[in-house]
Amino acid sequence: MKKITEAYIQRLPKAEIHIHLEGSVTPEALLRLGKKHKTELAGMNPEQIREEFFEYRDFYDFLETYKLVCRHLQSAEDYLDTLRDLGRYFQRENILYAEVIFTPSIPWKFGRDGAEILGAILEESAKLEESRGVRIRWILDCVRQFGREVAERTAELAWQSRAQGVVGVGLGGDEKAVPLSEYEEVFNWVRAHELFVHVHAGEIGEPSEIWDALQILGANRIGHGIQASRDSKLMGYLRDHAIGLDICLTSNAKTKAWPLISEHPFPLLFERGVPVTLNTDDPGLFEVDLGTEYKKAVDAFELQEDDLHRIILQGIRSSFLPHDEKMSLMQLFRDKIQANGE
Ligand code: ADE
Ligand code: ZN
Repeated sequence: MKKITEAYIQRLPKAEIHIHLEGSVTPEALLRLGKKHKTELAGMNPEQIREEFFEYRDFYDFLETYKLVCRHLQSAEDYLDTLRDLGRYFQRENILYAEVIFTPSIPWKFGRDGAEILGAILEESAKLEESRGVRIRWILDCVRQFGREVAERTAELAWQSRAQGVVGVGLGGDEKAVPLSEYEEVFNWVRAHELFVHVHAGEIGEPSEIWDALQILGANRIGHGIQASRDSKLMGYLRDHAIGLDICLTSNAKTKAWPLISEHPFPLLFERGVPVTLNTDDPGLFEVDLGTEYKKAVDAFELQEDDLHRIILQGIRSSFLPHDEKMSLMQLFRDKIQANGE
């Protein structure tokens, strides 16, 4: 059996469809923001920041660091610096397609202009497509704990921004905080306005959260969804309805949603035909890149080249691109995959 090396993985074309802009802030970038805004972090060094904030007892401990990072993103320029770093990351990892999640309700929480920040982000995103050779689409996320009203505002902003690359509306945050029925009307509106629906569910919550995301919100794709592995009927449903699960191994290990990668349900889901992809979720906060995520999967689950290629192509299949764009991008990926093996 051929050994799959890091160099081979690096050269493969990749799609990353679950990556939060805010979560791409590294310890070094957080320190820069701390110094710029003269916060309590200004006097620390990156190692101290890493030790104090970038290791998580559990999912809720992770959310605390997430909030700390969001508190440091104080201006459009801070978001743009983060996005430019992300552009370099895409190029380094040979990521040719990305669906990035941005949460406008975070600047709104701090009394900032989320629509203006989004406008600046989308303008920069178009420039990065040119300079970094990556196609970028956006999902605007609502936060479960924040309630219906801000979710409605988020959905309207997504609708207004669809010509600039916004393709969907998502729901993230603490899935145990509020039942999904709270968001039923918002997501009815989202679907009626031809936007895709993305829901974080079954990460730390029960399989019933995933059923609710499908049946109440009409989710087109699920963030994480790993708890589906406990429900055979649900795995069959996801397979038959081509509902993708964005799997994030390192994220799950670091938040303790699934502490051991060696025991992760990824291989079970894959064998059952559930459309699974590999993603970093928050590459800065989890200090991981997509190549490493793939390498961990190859080593832990003994994936072969064909498996790897299937997972990569699934990233385009599960994306929120229109059908014809998916088909042409998949052909481009197939050509590049083949060239990589020659
Ligand atoms: N926002 C960023 N990362 C997240 C995660 N892993 N789960 C829920 N919401 C998130
Ligand atoms: Zn996420």
